[in-house]
Amino acid sequence: MWAFQQLEPFEHFISRQRAKGHSIGFVPTMGALHAGHLSLIRQSNAAHDITVCSIFVNPTQFNDPLDLLKYPRMEAQDLYLLERAHCGVAFLPSEAEVYPQGHGAGPEFMFGTLDQIMEGAFRPGHFLGVAQVVYRFLQMVEPDAIYMGQKDFQQVAIVREMIRQAGLQVRLVMCPTVREENGLAMSSRNVRLPETQRTQAALIYEVLQDIKERAHSANLPHLREEALRRLAEAPGFRPEYVEIVDGRSLQQVNAMEESDFVVACIACWVGEVRLIDNLVIKFSDK
Ligand code: PAF
Repeated sequence: MWAFQQLEPFEHFISRQRAKGHSIGFVPTMGALHAGHLSLIRQSNAAHDITVCSIFVNPTQFNDPLDLLKYPRMEAQDLYLLERAHCGVAFLPSEAEVYPQGHGAGPEFMFGTLDQIMEGAFRPGHFLGVAQVVYRFLQMVEPDAIYMGQKDFQQVAIVREMIRQAGLQVRLVMCPTVREENGLAMSSRNVRLPETQRTQAALIYEVLQDIKERAHSANLPHLREEALRRLAEAPGFRPEYVEIVDGRSLQQVNAMEESDFVVACIACWVGEVRLIDNLVIKFSDK
């Protein structure tokens, strides 16, 4: 595996790959890699000559400075895991290389309601930071496709919209959420959960499954309220939202007939760790 910290040699490497006619798959990460990331690497490897995985803890997407401070950093282990997953290139640029003209530079994206609901409502500015950094990485890597996990469903919607607004020629591939044995969605933040809470956190997925099972026969606003109550009553849990939304616009859906693509989304604190998860409860590809 090649590993680059500096932009110049990385860009030379990418140009050489392009000159050879190689296709490039890209997996952006903030490190603390887990099986979910490695499944993105595998899916990219299967479709491209070379996979680039970036590791960069992006300060502009943290609305809470404490969250940025506590974000797990484990570079040596990440590189080892990438090597074992047959990733072609690890790219670990410095903040100065990612933001040569400071944080605010770059195109301005307008996401309308997409970034004002759910994560956007609870983490103001978060998605502008995500869009800014993913745009910058797409400029540096120039991949044929970018691979992102469904666990961050709203993030994928934002990146899709950013790609559309910027007119970029890159394919966005959303890959299924990888779960721990008990159903908890894999997340870099899971390492901060003490063992008992990591077991209890499976409740989030149970609640999503319950919504899915009952969505066709129950009233959706009631299901939402019930799910919120169930989470709030669990010791150590503090739900921020339970939403049932259209999978494209992310607008709330109050009856299953309103959309052919319905997704249930949850954000919930378990102890000191904020977790998100979602489940597609209806999809018909017309
Ligand atoms: O999902 C993440 O890890 C980050 O939001 C991303 C896409 C790497 C941008 O910093």
